[in-house]
This record gives sequence, C-alpha cells and structure tokens, in this order.
Amino acid sequence: MEFKNRDVISITDFSKEELLHILKVVRQMEQKPKGSLLKGKILATLFFEPSTRTRLSFTSAMEQLSGTVIGFSNANVTSIQKGESLWDTIKMTEQYADAIVIRHPLEGSARLAAEAASVPVINGGDGSNQHPTQTMLDIYTIQKIKGKLDGLHIGFVGDLKYGRTVHSLVIALSHFNPTFYFIAPDELQIPENYTEELFRKKIRHFKTRDLERFSKELDVLYVTRIQKERFPDPLEYEKFKGIYRIDEAFLQHVKKDMKIMHPLPRIDEIDKNVDKTQHAAYFEQAANGIPVRKALLALVLGKVR
Ligand code: CP
Repeated sequence: MEFKNRDVISITDFSKEELLHILKVVRQMEQKPKGSLLKGKILATLFFEPSTRTRLSFTSAMEQLSGTVIGFSNANVTSIQKGESLWDTIKMTEQYADAIVIRHPLEGSARLAAEAASVPVINGGDGSNQHPTQTMLDIYTIQKIKGKLDGLHIGFVGDLKYGRTVHSLVIALSHFNPTFYFIAPDELQIPENYTEELFRKKIRHFKTRDLERFSKELDVLYVTRIQKERFPDPLEYEKFKGIYRIDEAFLQHVKKDMKIMHPLPRIDEIDKNVDKTQHAAYFEQAANGIPVRKALLALVLGKVR
C-alpha cells in the first residue's frame, strides 16, 4: 500500500483496505493535532469554484502541521483570464508547490491536472463527478458516530443527480455491505451508472421520492442541497428548490439514534431547530475535515505511511 506521491482524484482509485488505512492515520492525526510534520512543504489550493470548508480546512490542516499554502479562490485574478490553459496553469503550479488541491466545475479536470503535474494532485471537487476527500471525512464521521461502517442502512435525500458527494460516498460505502435508500424525484435520482454498479455488486437499494417511506429503517440520512449551479435551465431548479425539509416533525418518525449528515452548505433542507437535537451530525462531520485532510497531506507527501 503506497500513498507517497499518489493523486487523490476518484474514490474508485482506493481499495477498501486503503480507505481503512487512511481512517487509521486520521485517528492518529486526531490524537496529535499540531506539529511540524509538514514543515517546509507548500500546498497550492487552486479553486475555480466557490468553497468554504474544503479550501479552509486544507489550509488549516497544512498550517497546523507547519506547512504553508499558496493559491487562489477566484480564477478571475489569474492568467486564465488572459487565455492560459488549465494544463499550463498546472505545469506552472507544480514548480511552486509540493502538492496541489484543485476544485473546478468541469468533470475530469482533476484527472487532467494530475496528468499535467509531477506532484500529487488532490481533487477538491470536479463538477458533478467526484469529491473524494469529502467522502473520506464522511466515512470517518460515520465510523465515529455509528461505531462501525458495516451493514448500515443509509438514506440519501435531495439532489442525487448533481450531488458529487453522494456519488463518491455510494462507491466508498459499497465496500461495507450497506442498504441504500435514494430519496429524490425521478429527475434528480442517482444516475444509472451508479445503480448498475450496485446491481452488479448485489447491494440492496431502493428508490423513492417519499421522504417518510423508509424513515424508520435509517441509521444515517445524508441530506444534500439542490445544486442550483449545475442546472442547465434555471426554471428546472425553481421546480425542485425546497422540495425536502428535515424538521422536528420528521424526526418523530426516525430511530432515536438515527444521525443526519450533510456535506454543507445547507440552504433550507434542514431546519435550524434540528441542530440542537441528538440527530444532528453535520457540524461534527465538517470538523472532521481537518484531521482527514491532515492525514491525506501527510500520506501523499510521504511523511507518514
Ligand atoms: N462540503 C464542501 O465541499 O463544502 P465547500 O463547498 O464549502 O468546500
């Protein structure tokens, strides 16, 4: 199992054993949160799309381990504006940094960046495709809050078509004998290439648009916002916005220990009153981004094995 110089582009590039090894390193990072492990190392964060959690938690992780960060959060201030290609941008950045995190609206952009770069490239989200570091923090959170990963009943609700965090998480959890419940209108259901894979692996899964239909079965409900920025037609977004809302009334119909996760940002799909209930796990989930990203940086920069 080798992580040094490894790109982190898709969760499909990681085996079950590798994912479990990463979670072990994350636990070590939680035990020793600060230090000089990455002293002298430079991370470039190239964000062509907005971000709060991913960019700031990578920055914080790097700085807590004594590394430094360069980069941009707005491509309008870069030479992309003059017509420079993504390929050339990456060829330049690899001269300035030991690793690169990229977020870009185009699916496949992180893979292209990894082809251009000789330093490790980490995908911070490419369009509707993948968000592998979010998935690592999601499975770390599930392991912590449920005490296990195996055999869980996991619901996904909201925009399962465009929600890249759902796509990555379904693949990762498929290693752990789950039962999935995909809750969305037909137009926003999980793409067929994912369900074809679930059929192939004989993983039990159900599709419905009714939030309450399987509510009593769930160990975890993973809520997503409707991804306004991905809709080709704004009128189509208007049709679906606000379609699901998790509130205290809904929580009357779930197991006492059912946990609600959300990659955030939320818009209106989880009522704020839910935050103070024993079901809310989304802020703890976001906090887990720090040790997870520390572990990944230390692994790909060859500072831990
Ligand atoms: N979960 C997540 O990717 O959040 P940001 O878009 O704020 O980075």
